[in-house]
Amino acid sequence: MHPDSPRTTWIEVSRAALTNNLHQLRARLRGRTQLMAIVKANAYGHGATLVARTLQQAGADAFGVATLGEAIELRQAGINEPILVLGYTPAQQAEDALANRITITVFERTTALEFDRRARSIGARLAVHVKVNTGMNRLGVLPDAAPALVDALFGLHNLQVQGIFTHFATSDEADKGFAEEQFARFSSVLDILSGVGLRPPIAHAANSAALLTMPHTHLDLVRSGIALYGLDPDMNECPLPRGFMPALRWKAIVAQVANLTAGDTVSYGREFTAPHLMRVAVLPIGYADGFPRRPFHWQSVLIRGMAAPIVGRVCMDQCIVDITAIEHATGIVPQGEEVVLIGSQGKTSLSAETVSVRLGTNNYDVVSRILPRVPRVYMVK
Ligand SMILES: Cc1ncc(COP(=O)(O)O)c(C=O)c1O
Repeated sequence: MHPDSPRTTWIEVSRAALTNNLHQLRARLRGRTQLMAIVKANAYGHGATLVARTLQQAGADAFGVATLGEAIELRQAGINEPILVLGYTPAQQAEDALANRITITVFERTTALEFDRRARSIGARLAVHVKVNTGMNRLGVLPDAAPALVDALFGLHNLQVQGIFTHFATSDEADKGFAEEQFARFSSVLDILSGVGLRPPIAHAANSAALLTMPHTHLDLVRSGIALYGLDPDMNECPLPRGFMPALRWKAIVAQVANLTAGDTVSYGREFTAPHLMRVAVLPIGYADGFPRRPFHWQSVLIRGMAAPIVGRVCMDQCIVDITAIEHATGIVPQGEEVVLIGSQGKTSLSAETVSVRLGTNNYDVVSRILPRVPRVYMVK
């Protein structure tokens, strides 16, 4: 068990990998392009405050999160760099945003007016970035309406229009056609604004995939999440180049080992029946840790560098794996033996990407769903 972990399952986060990945990204940017580290969703499951502190030391210029609550958590942890809330912040949260010097995203006039009014009533200025919807059709003002909105925002004296941004839907695909279309729409908004002297100082569009594969989209700032964690923007169409390192390893220890005889069944619903004499290990991980039960589960974990297949249903806090072949090859597996759920063991590795294929999802989903009750342990290496 890891000495710093209060539980028998834990995540190891490598500070060296995070720092290395930030340097890898920085090396691809022009000197004046800033790097915003995206640390929403508990830093994609890696643990927001400690990841942000590591990236702060490594030279991140700014941080991006999804909610005001996430932003305040970082401020309270001593992150002094600009923090942008990328998602929707309702006007009722203006006072909290101001008190914590958080930058918020605006995309329509009514909320912006209310933000301005609330900022004025306490004699403060709220920093905002304008979000333009160039084709993702998620949050944002349409390109045609963007210049008028920016014009109106510059007229609100208690708002400080620091930035303008858009987000790509397909920059992680091999075909960059739609991403280029989005970039062209965004660029024409910027041109119109520049023409009338209203271009906000910080324009940004690129996520990790665009940072790596569309250098002309870097503009004043790039917003990188997945690549900082050493994970592929897309495992097939946009794998990370050499030099990046996955920052997260998920481990556990064996809670109990047992014999099953032919006909014995395992776990709720008795879905698995031992076909012959077997050896199984009980692991202290379950779906309430982010180790899913349905519709697909992890399939196997690593013990002594070999695959230990899950047998029977994954429970809330525990699951059971078949160690018959492992013991046959390597000898008795004792209680306390180390298990790897994500990471490498000996010469074998089980990546978040491999797990994502098994779960029918992507690597973002695999790591960001690991729940907070799994302790995060920060390692130098
Ligand atoms: C608005 C926005 N910008 C940037 C990012 C970072 O993207 P990535 O993790 O692919 O670098 C995200 C994450 O999904 C996002 O929602």
